[in-house]
This record gives sequence, structure tokens and C-alpha cells, in this order.
Amino acid sequence: MDEIIDAIFAIMRALWLMVPMLIPNSAAVLFGGGTAVDFGKTMKDGSRILGDGKTWRGLFGGTLSGMVIGLIQVGIMTLLDIPKWTYDPCILCTLFILFLLAFGSMFGDMLGSFIKRRVKVGRGVKAPGLDQYDFLIGTLILIVPLQWAWFYDNMLDGIYLVGFIGLIVLIPILHRAVNIIGFKMGKKDVPW
Ligand code: CTP
Ligand code: MG
Repeated sequence: MDEIIDAIFAIMRALWLMVPMLIPNSAAVLFGGGTAVDFGKTMKDGSRILGDGKTWRGLFGGTLSGMVIGLIQVGIMTLLDIPKWTYDPCILCTLFILFLLAFGSMFGDMLGSFIKRRVKVGRGVKAPGLDQYDFLIGTLILIVPLQWAWFYDNMLDGIYLVGFIGLIVLIPILHRAVNIIGFKMGKKDVPW
């Protein structure tokens, strides 16, 4: 019984710490528009580098939103005196980790679009697997080399690995739920 409770708490903790990675994609939908990140440029293969779905406003708005939400979370857990649910005692380290989580998420999203354009999948067209996990892959690409100790201590070590695996299992469900909400709100053209 204790093991199950520990596992549930580990999953909740992993979800909580990864909120700054989960927020940016939705925030980008709200803030997005205007100039495309690729400035409308096309590659030699005849397709856009990233496409009109990736804008500078979305990139900045998404990254900043994730970091601001992360700082609010740190504030809450500091007030509640639960340091285990914060990132790092040092505020600059916290800011750096939050940046890697939030920007990494947007970076992965752009990487996903880059791959979609190379295999001629149009803007907004479903790419199962890629759509659900591109932001996690982007975050891992940055956080594994740049903050390995943090990643190991908080996502891989002991029971925290159960939390991280739980997060991976929950991501497609969260992704689907958020996109259905975005679609119903009229913010997304398609419910995926
Ligand atoms: N968005 C943005 N800038 C970003 C990411 C997203 O402006 N860096 C906005 C765009 O309006 C985009 C919407 O959020 O249409 C949904 O994002 P996403 O599903 O990632 O883009 P798609 O339009 O589906 O394009 P793609 O096929 O390239 O994923
Ligand atoms: Mg899409």
C-alpha cells in the first residue's frame, strides 16, 4: 500500500515539476500570430522550413509563460515549506532549469514541425507520436546535457523514475484533453 502511495506522489511530483514544459505549447496558441520563425522561407525541397504555425510571438509568449508559471509554483511551494517540490535552492539555477523546460518544449515543437515539413506533412495535419512527444524530446535534448544532475536526481533516481514514467504515460492523455479544450474554445482549428 505504501508503495502505491509513494508512486502516486512521485507521479504528481513529476507532473508538477514539468508544468513549465507542459504550458508553453498551449500558451503559444494563445499568444501566437504575426511573423513566422522561419520568416516564410522555403527549403530546397520546396517546403517551408517550419511553416506558419511557428511564430516569434508564440515562441516568446510560450517560453515566458512556462517560466512565469514555474516561478509561481516555486513561490507556492516555498510558502508551503515543501522544498522537495521546487527545482533548486539557488534562484539562478532555478531560472536556468525553468528556461530549459519552457524553451526546450518550444524547441521540440519546432523540431517536430521541421520534421513534418521535410516529410511533406502540411501545417496542422496530425502526426501521431510526434505531436504528443515533440516537446518532451526537445526538453530532454537540452536538459540531459545541460542539467544532467538535476534531471537524474529528480526524474531518474529511485522512486522518481516511476514518476517520470507516469508522466510519459499521461502526456498523450493530457495532450488530447488540452487540444479538445482549445478546439472547443475556437483557439485551434482541429482537435489534436
Ligand atoms: N503557435 C505559434 N508559435 C509557436 C507554436 C505555436 O504561433 N512557436 C500557434 C500557431 O497559431 C499554431 C498553434 O499555435 O497554429 C498550434 O500549434 P501547433 O499545433 O504546434 O502548430 P500547427 O499549426 O499544428 O503546425 P504544425 O503542423 O507545424 O505543427
Ligand atoms: Mg499541430
